[in-house]
Amino acid sequence: MSGGAPYVGARKRLGGRSRLSGAGFDECGKDKEDAVPMTKVTFNDASGASRTVEAQIGSTVMETALRNSVPGIEAECGGACACATCHVYVAPQWTEAVGKPSQMEEDMLDFAADVRPNSRLSCQIKVTEALDGLVVTTPARQG
Ligand code: FES
Repeated sequence: MSGGAPYVGARKRLGGRSRLSGAGFDECGKDKEDAVPMTKVTFNDASGASRTVEAQIGSTVMETALRNSVPGIEAECGGACACATCHVYVAPQWTEAVGKPSQMEEDMLDFAADVRPNSRLSCQIKVTEALDGLVVTTPARQG
């Protein structure tokens, strides 16, 4: 390599983006959250408390909850659909847009408490533009 910036090759291999910029930071560690497409998700809890948070398109509802310290989502398996501690109830007006659980998710929901027809595992709900304004409720207890 002669002359030029030594990291140009690495940047090209990463599709023009550094790993850090893909994580929401530029090379100087400056926050680039504004560049990440965002939407909103509202989490209600069993007591009636409500909080609306920003959610990154492409993340999951569970990741959004953890990133925003939303209580009531434990996510012990980290999103592998193997614990059912990220159980939520999807608001009736959102059930069609969110869709039905996969067979694997339905099987895991058998381990959740107080399962209802609108129950979903939040790690299996991908945040998309179509879900902007999504409302979910966390159960009184997980597991
Ligand atoms: Fe474990 Fe969702 S985080 S099933």
